[in-house]
Amino acid sequence: MKTLATLLTLLYFVAPSAAQNVDLGTDAQREAGRLMYNAKCSHCHGARGAGDGAATAFLRPAPRDFTTGTFKFRTTENGELPTDEDIRRSIRQGMPYTGMPPWPQLSEQEVDNLMYYIKTFSDFFSGPFAEVTALDMPSPPSITDESIVRGREVFLENSCIDCHGNLGRGDGPSGPTLTDQWDIPIRAADLTKRWTFRGGSTRSDIYRTFTTGLDGSPMPAFDIQPIEDQWALVNYVHSLSRDEADYSTYATSVFTTAAIDPSAGADAFSAAPEAFFAMVGQVIEPGRSFFPGVNGLAVRAMHNADHIGIMLQWNDMSADTDGINGPGLEVPIWPNDTDTTQAFSDAVAIQFPSGDGSGGGLPYLLFGDVSNSVDLWFADLSTPRADHYVGNGSGNLTASGMDYETSASYEDGQWTVIIKRDRTLDGQITFEDAAFAPVLFSVWDGFSRERGNRRGLTSWTYLYLEPAETESPLGPMAMYGLITLLLGLGATTLIRRKYSNVSA
Ligand code: HEC
Ligand code: HEC
Repeated sequence: MKTLATLLTLLYFVAPSAAQNVDLGTDAQREAGRLMYNAKCSHCHGARGAGDGAATAFLRPAPRDFTTGTFKFRTTENGELPTDEDIRRSIRQGMPYTGMPPWPQLSEQEVDNLMYYIKTFSDFFSGPFAEVTALDMPSPPSITDESIVRGREVFLENSCIDCHGNLGRGDGPSGPTLTDQWDIPIRAADLTKRWTFRGGSTRSDIYRTFTTGLDGSPMPAFDIQPIEDQWALVNYVHSLSRDEADYSTYATSVFTTAAIDPSAGADAFSAAPEAFFAMVGQVIEPGRSFFPGVNGLAVRAMHNADHIGIMLQWNDMSADTDGINGPGLEVPIWPNDTDTTQAFSDAVAIQFPSGDGSGGGLPYLLFGDVSNSVDLWFADLSTPRADHYVGNGSGNLTASGMDYETSASYEDGQWTVIIKRDRTLDGQITFEDAAFAPVLFSVWDGFSRERGNRRGLTSWTYLYLEPAETESPLGPMAMYGLITLLLGLGATTLIRRKYSNVSA
């Protein structure tokens, strides 16, 4: 792509006649676009469109540098400029799981103005190659089982697994080496999470992605023939993921008469329902990063009369077991995080409020606070063992020397970590039947150099222990509703009280 850009620049000077059919908008439209761009876009994309706004240091992937004329989401040939409609679509829809927000509230005229203004950042839009034609994007035929089976073959024949991995979890052997055109490390998409696709998650979007490629990224364009194989591939990729993330609001631990044995692995948890939680970057305190290496965590739990086992699973491009990690490690802010001599391992933590929870209110989500401590079960996956820390806030974590029985394994791009504890333990939360234990999860991706407060975390959520005799599924639902209601009432009372104090 770099050589292509150079070639285009050369040709531009050799043949400077601008294409006739290119619509660059009117002066008034570009000026209106400039004003809106400076208000809404320049802090990320930079005043001159070079992708160097104030927020750039915190964003991976980085905001697009418009001066190179490179665009990922196009209906045009690989290496060509996008059509006007491609730029409009990217502005309207944004790019999920990146810094690029959707702008559904803008009028068509406003989106046009922005589109015309963005074109002024690159000479290519007024050069000899500015005129582009959208490729024919056929509408998807129906999905059949045969086409999905054939699609798997097409997936293998075209080496998609080199980058995306055998089961599509983004863990192909080339994964860790991939960088974009701007030399920034980039991940091959996790095809089992279609909702994270940046160019959209419909079958038409997937079709466009692999037929035109994502310029500026290592994702190539593929010319697959016959057309039936193209749709077979689309249907296979589509089949790897559910439609939506379907994030859970709490996890349910189910009762078993069997022993809880972490070394028995994931199969022992098959009777427990999966709760899937969104993970977001820690952005409140220093160390912040907006898009963590791990953006979703699956949780299953089982308990018997004496013990509870919690199983955590997440997709990870690579198992990073060299290096160190710890919840209290210091993290320099992004631009200064340049010393790469120290490697960091993958890690995971489960956090509960300390004591029996009678302290009232939840501790502060970032490792607790001075008056409300948390118990942290922290597993550095370079040593498959979960250590107990007491947290009174970031920078105030103490290892007690105690640890929990743990197992950790990595297969086909997925970590499975199981941690076991006694249901009753002095000074720590008691796991009671039919009760909701507040819980929060963190994951550190060693490859992304996450440690300390640079990590992905869930919000406070709950772990519900289903009693031995199962009740109707409405039980926990109603209970959860009740908790939400009580919390809401509590908040209202507090606000009222505060307000009446002010007015008094
Ligand atoms: C908070 C930061 C942020 C803001 C604000 C923002 N963008 Fe972006 N934008 C990004 C990032 C990050 C990307 C690159 C995402 C990627 O490469 O996956 C991007 C990519 C784009 C692209 C490239 C699409 C392609 O095909 O490659 C366009 C066009 C764009 N932004 C337009 C805009 C416009 C117009 C605005 C203002 C209305 C805007 N952006 C505001 C962060 C931002
Ligand atoms: C050389 C490595 C490589 C190969 C081979 C490759 N991909 Fe990709 N693919 C990537 C990267 C990197 C991304 C992420 C690009 C980004 O985030 O901007 C990606 C993204 C995608 C996406 C998500 C696009 C989006 O909107 O976010 C899909 C779907 C996809 N690839 C399908 C395929 C299929 C199907 C094949 C085989 C025909 C394939 N890829 C082969 C590297 C590769």
